[in-house]
Amino acid sequence: MAMPRLLVLGSSWFLGRAVVDAALSAGWEVTTFRRGRHESGDDPANVTTIRGDYADPAAVGRLAKAGPFDAVVDNLAYTPRETLAVARALEPATNRYVMVSTVSVYEGWPVEPLTEDSAVLECAADAGPNPGYDGDPGPSTYGFGKAGCERAITETFGPDRATILRPGVILGPHEYVGRLPWWLRRMERAGEVLAAGSPDRSIQPVDVRDVAAFAVRCAAGQAGIFNVAAPGDETMGDFLTACRRVTGSDATITWITDEPWLIDQGVRQWTEIPLWRTYAGAWAVDTSRARAAGLVTRPLVDTARDTWEWLTSGTMVEHERAGELGISPVKEVAILQAWRAREADRCGAQ
Ligand SMILES: NC(=O)c1ccc[n+]([C@@H]2O[C@H](COP(=O)([O-])OP(=O)(O)OC[C@H]3O[C@@H](n4cnc5c(N)ncnc54)[C@H](OP(=O)(O)O)[C@@H]3O)[C@@H](O)[C@H]2O)c1
Repeated sequence: MAMPRLLVLGSSWFLGRAVVDAALSAGWEVTTFRRGRHESGDDPANVTTIRGDYADPAAVGRLAKAGPFDAVVDNLAYTPRETLAVARALEPATNRYVMVSTVSVYEGWPVEPLTEDSAVLECAADAGPNPGYDGDPGPSTYGFGKAGCERAITETFGPDRATILRPGVILGPHEYVGRLPWWLRRMERAGEVLAAGSPDRSIQPVDVRDVAAFAVRCAAGQAGIFNVAAPGDETMGDFLTACRRVTGSDATITWITDEPWLIDQGVRQWTEIPLWRTYAGAWAVDTSRARAAGLVTRPLVDTARDTWEWLTSGTMVEHERAGELGISPVKEVAILQAWRAREADRCGAQ
C-alpha cells in the first residue's frame, strides 16, 4: 500500500521539526516547504524539500504541483491574506489542512478560562499583516492574525477537511523562544533563584513532541478545533524543581508570593520571569476535547530533561530571538534583597 503523503509548511526550527519526526515515525512520506535558511537547520535526508517563501504565489504554485497530498500541516499561518492564498492553491491537491493556531485567538485569553467554544477575535480571512491591535493583557495582533488564518482555512477546506490546533505555551528540545532554556540555564548558574507567585499555581506548558504527534494524528483524519495544552496537574513548583533536578543544580529557590509587590518593583510577567503570569485564565485552558481525540502529554520533568540534553549537546544553534527573555542577574539580586528587607520590616512590625 502507498504511504500517505504529508506536506509540512515550515519544518526546521521547533514545532515544524517535531512534526516531520513524528510523521516519519508514523510512516508518512514527507515533503517540507521552507526558504532554506542555513541557521534554522537541515531537513532529514529522507524527506523531499521544496524551497520557497510562503508569501510567494509562484513558490506556492510549485507546491501544489508537487501534490496530491493526503494532508498539510501549516506552521506558517500568521497573515490571513497569505494563508488564504496558500489554502486556495493547495485545496485541489490536498485532502486535509491542519493549521497550527494558538490560544491567543480567544477574546478572553489570558483573563478567562477557555474552551473551544469561547469567543474568538474577529478578523477577516483576507486581512493583511498585523491586523487588529495589541492590548494589555490582550488581545494581540498575533491573535487577530491567527484568527483570520483560521477563518481562511475553514472557509476554503470546510469544517470536515480542516483541523485547527490551538496550543498554549510549547516547550521542549529546539525551543528557540527560550523559555525553558532560560530556566535551565538559570538553575545551572545556581545561587538564589527568584521565583514569582505561588509554587502551587497549576501550569499547562505542552511538550513540542506531544503537539507534533497530535498534529500527525489529526492529519490522518481528525477534523475540528482543539486546544492543545497539558492538563494542568503540574505546578510552577514542579516545573522549577524539575529544572533544578535535571541540571544537577544546588540552587535555592525563593518564592516572592506578593505578586503586586513584584510588579511594583518593575518585574515584567511572562518575559522577565518566563511562565509567570498572574491572570486567572493563563493556565485555565480546557483540553478534554483533544484528549478524547488522542492527545497524550508527558510529564514536565521529561521535557526538562530532554531539553537540557539538547542544550548541552553542542548541536544547538542560537536563534535571533534567543536572549529576549529573563531577568538580569543584577536586577534579580536587587529584587531579592528588597524582598528580604521588606519581610524583615514586616516581621519587626509584628
Ligand atoms: N512556541 C510556542 O509556544 C507556540 C505556541 C502556540 C502556537 N505556536 C505556533 O506554532 C507554530 C510553530 O512554528 P515554529 O516557529 O515552531 O516553527 P518551525 O516550523 O519549526 O520553524 C519555522 C520554519 O519555517 C520556515 N519559514 C519561516 N518563514 C518562512 C516563510 N516565509 N516561507 C517559508 N518557510 C518559512 C523556517 O525555515 P527557513 O528559515 O529555512 O525558511 C523554519 O523551517 C507557529 O505557527 C506558531 O504560531 C507556537
